[in-house]
Amino acid sequence: MRGSMCGQPGPEQQLPARFIAVCHPGSDVVRDHVLGIPTAIRQEHEEIHARLALATKLAGRTGEAARALAEVLHPHFVREEQIALPPLGLLAGLAKGEPVAGMLEVLPMVDALRAELPHMIEEHRAITAATRRLAGAAELEGQAAAAQLAAELLAHAGMEEQVMYPAAVLVGELVRLRAASASG
Ligand SMILES: [Fe+2]
Ligand SMILES: [Fe+2]
Repeated sequence: MRGSMCGQPGPEQQLPARFIAVCHPGSDVVRDHVLGIPTAIRQEHEEIHARLALATKLAGRTGEAARALAEVLHPHFVREEQIALPPLGLLAGLAKGEPVAGMLEVLPMVDALRAELPHMIEEHRAITAATRRLAGAAELEGQAAAAQLAAELLAHAGMEEQVMYPAAVLVGELVRLRAASASG
């Protein structure tokens, strides 16, 4: 079920900072990045977003392919930033054995992620196809930066499927288990 956390992303929610403001108004937790997207991952998303925005302004088939990719990529990024990536902000605290009492708000996110995972993987298939079209056009037209971006985006999606999504699910499981053992 999509949209269970903050609703479907609208055009005003294209950027992570906007999402945080819309979804967690005045939340100290998010401001402190305790339950926030880890900086390294947030920066990677922002960088891909910025480089793709540049590529969409190119003329020719590369620009056309970049615009088509941006259409499928942006709603996906927004949803990832709502439910798949913030749980990873708890990894370091969990590894150090910090108390889970302040971490329970991650549970609805992880439940939504579990439910939406097949759909998010399907979106990766569409993103991969659009990214391959960008790579082909960029190589043909000698657009080295766009070709490099396409290669990095393919690696990014693989990393998410193999590491980040499963890690986010495990964060939820561990928080639930530790919360249950602390209360029992
Ligand atoms: Fe992503
Ligand atoms: Fe993704």
